Amino acid sequence: MRQAGRYLKEYREIRSKVSFLELCKNTDLATEVSLQPYRLLGVDAVIFFSDILIPVEAMGVDVALTDKGPEIANPIRSQTDVNRLDVPDPTIEVPFVGSIIKNLRQQLRDEVPLIGFAGAPWTLASYMIEGGGSKSFAEIKSMAYREPRVLHALLDKLSATVSSYLSFQIESGAQVIQLFDTWAGELNRGDYEEFALPYTQKIFQTIGTRVPRILYLNGSSAILESMTRSGADVISIDWRISIAEARGRVGDRVAIQGNLDPCVLLGPEERILAKTKEILDDAGPTGHILNLGHGILPPTPVENARAFIKFGQTYRHSK
Ligand code: CP3
Repeated sequence: MRQAGRYLKEYREIRSKVSFLELCKNTDLATEVSLQPYRLLGVDAVIFFSDILIPVEAMGVDVALTDKGPEIANPIRSQTDVNRLDVPDPTIEVPFVGSIIKNLRQQLRDEVPLIGFAGAPWTLASYMIEGGGSKSFAEIKSMAYREPRVLHALLDKLSATVSSYLSFQIESGAQVIQLFDTWAGELNRGDYEEFALPYTQKIFQTIGTRVPRILYLNGSSAILESMTRSGADVISIDWRISIAEARGRVGDRVAIQGNLDPCVLLGPEERILAKTKEILDDAGPTGHILNLGHGILPPTPVENARAFIKFGQTYRHSK
């Protein structure tokens, strides 16, 4: 999940001097910001600092990241718009991503694994078509229902882009890959299997099994079983169902990651530890990666994040 960000004063200090996109493209600063959660919190893996919209910009879309979240001034609404998009060569369009990953591997010296990531086609398409974040996803869904061929053409271009982007990350040194299909949880099972699943399957098939692959969705409870058909080794879930229920539904085919509600980290410590214990007991000693159910929130007290991590690292299951 996201681990760097505004809840850290060390991040805010760097961010006060550069814009978000500049930070993503400045190799030294992005390396530094990626390492902050490792140094300050002692997390067990590092995710390189970037954003899912970086390859979208490389496709030729004007992307801005404002205080209100991502904004795309000219949303994709037609086949002509789709035809104009490039499938970028990451070595030419986003070389800084490779440099950040190489730098991080050098500095981490195999102390902990480095995670690479990308947004999945449905989630990237939702930003490109809606023009930013959305509550109803009315624009992308109306394209799905009225002009499915245009949407499929966009999703196809996105899966080619994401496949070569992730391969580039692996070749640069990423040791684990996480694919974020954050907004695919807005779909019912039938629509998920038509507009999201085939594209995540294609990406996992293309990048192969060189490194372990994690698939995250927010609001995955209705389509958990379908997610396990993506080819992911790990499914990462939100907090709305227990790990025990998820395990009962997906069996032992995949590992499960999650799933503390990030709001629990807003306090008090007693509840943080009790909820974390519940997750760990539910999950059992194997086949589970302890994590949040979505990104850490800016008002999170750092000591609360630290308490969560320390509890997970020192907890021993009985028997
Ligand atoms: O170093 C790390 O921890 C990696 C960081 C990371 C970011 N974005 C940095 C970021 C990761 C893994 C992402 C992925 C991402 N970006 C997702 C998928 C994961 C998820 O949370 O569902 C999504 C949907 C986005 C799109 C996005 N980018 C949103 C919705 C926002 C606004 C969020 C906010 O809190 O304002 C961003 C901006 C963003 N991406 C920030 C960070 C640290 C905040 C930017 C800032 O400094 O102002």
